[in-house]
Amino acid sequence: MRKVKVAIIGGGTVGGGVYQALANNGELIAARCGYSIEVNHVVVRDAGKKRSVNPPREIVSTDWEMAISDPETDIVVELVGGVDEAYRIVRRSLEMQKPVITANKALLSLRGASLMKLARKFRTHLYFEASVAGGIPIIKVLRESLVANRISRVYAIANGTCNYILTKMAREGRAFDEILSEAQALGYAEAEPSLDIDGLDAMHKTGIMASLLSGYWVPERSIYVKGIRDITPIDLEFAEWLGYTIKLIGSIKLNENRGDWRNPEIELSVEPMLVPKTHVLASVDGVFNAVFVKGDVVGEALFYGRGAGQDATASSVISDIVDAACDLHQEYERTLAPFEAYAESAAILSHEHSIANYFIRLEAINRPGTMARVTEILARHQIGISSCIQPENHDGETVPLMLMVDRAPYHVFKKAIRELGQLRVVRSKPVYFRVESFAD
Ligand code: NAP
Ligand code: HSE
Repeated sequence: MRKVKVAIIGGGTVGGGVYQALANNGELIAARCGYSIEVNHVVVRDAGKKRSVNPPREIVSTDWEMAISDPETDIVVELVGGVDEAYRIVRRSLEMQKPVITANKALLSLRGASLMKLARKFRTHLYFEASVAGGIPIIKVLRESLVANRISRVYAIANGTCNYILTKMAREGRAFDEILSEAQALGYAEAEPSLDIDGLDAMHKTGIMASLLSGYWVPERSIYVKGIRDITPIDLEFAEWLGYTIKLIGSIKLNENRGDWRNPEIELSVEPMLVPKTHVLASVDGVFNAVFVKGDVVGEALFYGRGAGQDATASSVISDIVDAACDLHQEYERTLAPFEAYAESAAILSHEHSIANYFIRLEAINRPGTMARVTEILARHQIGISSCIQPENHDGETVPLMLMVDRAPYHVFKKAIRELGQLRVVRSKPVYFRVESFAD
């Protein structure tokens, strides 16, 4: 049986999971793919740290240069996280013509285009299955299994930490910070958890999927992003009452520009949305992720699984290791690059013109005339109201006032929100979320 040697750079949550799964299932994997996969290095920052997974001491080091330059190392797995050091590790490995596997969506989002070019220049590949949606094999699905399709829509719950927090807030009414600490302890959150809760991690993943769909590496600055910090239990409660649940959704709308797939038009956003409880994405709870896809040949398809955590992510990393092992023994031209840049350009549409229905929550003073002032502003901006709730028996000077409003372009809606926030009868910054029907 052929052997391949793998250097794992980063032996934390995911790196530990990869080592453990290869130790547990190595023989089975070898029987399936014909390669015996041996880990020859595990590189960490602190070799003396106590860990839940402990590879043999002789393969653990703190020197990634040594590990990737080892002539015995065939494949490099980058699992350190962050951007700058990770970039150096990936670049050096590609320059040595060694295939690299990464789960690092922040790195890909920022430097993906140049790293893909570098991989091509050195006639090797950069694989990234674990970078989106943890254990769901969505990269392979979009790149290979759905190759026949012009995909026009993707709606994704792509951040396990946020979905875990929103689910626990809705079901148990517990505080945001307490649930975030739990997600960190479970190994779901990023080292810097603001990446999760401010929507940036989902933005990285949405950009990667949009790049695969369009054949054009989408710059992350073109994605409108809003995180989940503003969501309170009262929003979840009233969304539920209105027949919705709130989810952080990465949305990709892709239209061919006059039928030419070489120049697509793309509309992208990551934001909390009210999802109708009747829609399949509404029932994706906890750390689970789901990617809903509409293709012209396949129709609608849904991919569901654990979006974060040690074992689920390790499953995706190992699938890439097996692909890399098989590709090592193929002529480069006969292998399938994980990303192919085939579009000449892409028009990324500004979020300012995207049209949606919205849910608004105001903390308003409970006195005659408040509602009149609110409705006057919305009417002046030609924004219709489809429903309005002010819960009874609410103590205190202010009351929550919830409104569902009809379709408006974001730049118009934003002006109305600014004016609502300036009203004397409104006592805190207005909170608003898009309401998505998934109809178009
Ligand atoms: P982690 O638990 O913090 O592990 C990072 C590992 O890298 C640690 O072992 C750390 O060493 C090591 N490291 C950091 N800087 C290093 C350096 N300069 N040289 C050598 N080793 C270094 O992070 P993780 O959760 O496994 O995440 C790793 C990557 O996978 C990130 O890009 C993350 O976004 C991605 N990812 C994570 C998940 C998840 O569920 N956790 C899912 C999908 C993708 P020490 O242990 O000594 O500190
Ligand atoms: N922090 C990420 C999440 C890890 O919670 O989804 C998986 O990419």
